[in-house]
Amino acid sequence: MCGIVGYVGKQLAAPILVDGLRRLEYRGYDSAGVAIHNAEGLGVVRTLGKLRVLHEALSEQPLSGTVGIGHTRWATHGRPSEENAHPHVAGGVAVVHNGIIENHIALRRELEADGVVFSSDTDTEIVAHLIDRALRAGASKLVEAVRISLGRVQGAYAIAVVSEHEPATIVAARHGSPLVVGAGDGEMLCGSDIAALLSHTRDMVFLEDGDIAELTCAGVSYSNLAGEPVERESKRVDWSPVMAERGGYKHFMLKEIHEQPEAIAATVRGRLDLDAGDVHGGEIGLTEEIAKRTRRVYLVACGTSYHASLVGRYWIESLAKLPTFVELGSEVSCRDCVFFEDDLVIAVSQSGETFDTIGAVKAAKAAGATVLAVANVLDSAIPRMSHGALYTRAGPEIGVASTKCFSAQLVALLMIAVYLGRRRDALDAATGTEVLQALCEAPSQINELLGDADYVRSVAAQMAHATDVLFLGRGYNYPIALEGALKLKEISYAHAEGYAAGEMKHGPIALIDEDLPVVVVCPKDRTYEKTFANIQEVRAREGQVIVLATKGDEALHELAAHILWLPEASEWTLPLLTVVPLQLLAYYIAARKGHDVDQPRNLAKTVTVE
Ligand code: M6R
Repeated sequence: MCGIVGYVGKQLAAPILVDGLRRLEYRGYDSAGVAIHNAEGLGVVRTLGKLRVLHEALSEQPLSGTVGIGHTRWATHGRPSEENAHPHVAGGVAVVHNGIIENHIALRRELEADGVVFSSDTDTEIVAHLIDRALRAGASKLVEAVRISLGRVQGAYAIAVVSEHEPATIVAARHGSPLVVGAGDGEMLCGSDIAALLSHTRDMVFLEDGDIAELTCAGVSYSNLAGEPVERESKRVDWSPVMAERGGYKHFMLKEIHEQPEAIAATVRGRLDLDAGDVHGGEIGLTEEIAKRTRRVYLVACGTSYHASLVGRYWIESLAKLPTFVELGSEVSCRDCVFFEDDLVIAVSQSGETFDTIGAVKAAKAAGATVLAVANVLDSAIPRMSHGALYTRAGPEIGVASTKCFSAQLVALLMIAVYLGRRRDALDAATGTEVLQALCEAPSQINELLGDADYVRSVAAQMAHATDVLFLGRGYNYPIALEGALKLKEISYAHAEGYAAGEMKHGPIALIDEDLPVVVVCPKDRTYEKTFANIQEVRAREGQVIVLATKGDEALHELAAHILWLPEASEWTLPLLTVVPLQLLAYYIAARKGHDVDQPRNLAKTVTVE
């Protein structure tokens, strides 16, 4: 979950590393550090806290030099502290690492028996000592020492290494954690993801597991753990550096909420056949044959992606008439989940790197199921290991709380539902056209909702003191209630619960009193009457209700303390709309509390631990 970056070129490395880390800070932000070759040897600066602390330290204690590595950390082994911050140094070797070394205890004992004294609690320091030992034992090159050392290591890693023995080289390697290499003008970079390299290049190589890259100003060579050269193809990415900037918004999250119309439009672009009421299978990673042989759909995901999957279930059941199950990635490994060869397993993940979802994909593949990835990050682990991939085109999402990627995932799942429905004769062309036309209208409807942001902010101001909030909804409004609650708790740290409105009477109704705000998703859809009755039950117990209602619904207006209006819209695309006021509500409550909205405490955007 950490971010790593490396630079070798002709410019000063420090500002480039810090800029790269800034773009990776969403991956972890409890400490940071850099190691840079300069006239005195390897200069290392590490700081506890967010990147700005490192930035300040480097202003006071500048490091010159044009070759270096950097790291931003999300603690796994050892608490956040300066000693545990990366880079870790042994002899003249410095290492940054993202991942977990599973056999670190055995290796630590072995190295201690050799006389090594450790200065941190991390698993990473072991790698630095192994490389130093290999160099001292006669490895002729840094790349060779890294290869020897990685031969001893079990677990997941992406590492970047510099050494005083070869001050013009960075060696980077990947096994299980992402690593990208990019060539700039007379410079080479590596990093945990595209965003870190974007201001230098858009031509990137996504390393494969087992790859080792040797970077110098002159270029890069790739080899494997056996020392054999390997060829890796460069891909041009279509994200621009500007997309990863805040662009005048106070927080990335707010910017990303406002980018949802474009994220949706981009995700459907070129993929629909409106006249035929259909979706182009090749564009979404599916084939006629897969659609026809599928007997069940299994969606696996975590967090916000899980909520998108829950909505997807309603669509796939309704439009494709396929039995559909949704499971949390982390639960797949805790159950004897049964997958069949004629299952279509859809792994939904913004980052494409989530450990728990990867575990579920492995289980599904082992059972012979077909796996389709829905991911936002090009060439990330889950699409790579799946049989097909549908990339959402939300652009880089930097805010830890996912917003535009959720919307883009919904779009992907709706397209999949239509494609399956059409192939399986469960959906006629006219209904397909109706659904897809509704999808095309969603961006302008969301723009309309965003126009009410100031009103949502005023409601948020009145809710900001709440320590508990209940979110209710029925049908596909239920996962939206779950998502509204997750957004609020992630960034405002208020306790929030999402519930199926029909379940309220089975327990949560006991919570209701005049102090509990209850947010109810109640558009005019097929669940309306029942949810309306639930709202009356809350009101009868003095609960204050904040309702998302279809414009003009006077009956609800009378019952609600606050009403957030939704435009008239097709039922098919309501989830794309109802989520927006809830995202804004969470955002404005958290911002009002003065929280670090983009980097909420204890979280990281890419969760690569179990
Ligand atoms: O990258 P993924 O979509 O697989 O991530 C899954 C969750 O970690 C993620 O959705 C998390 O819940 C977000 N912080 C939600 O805002």
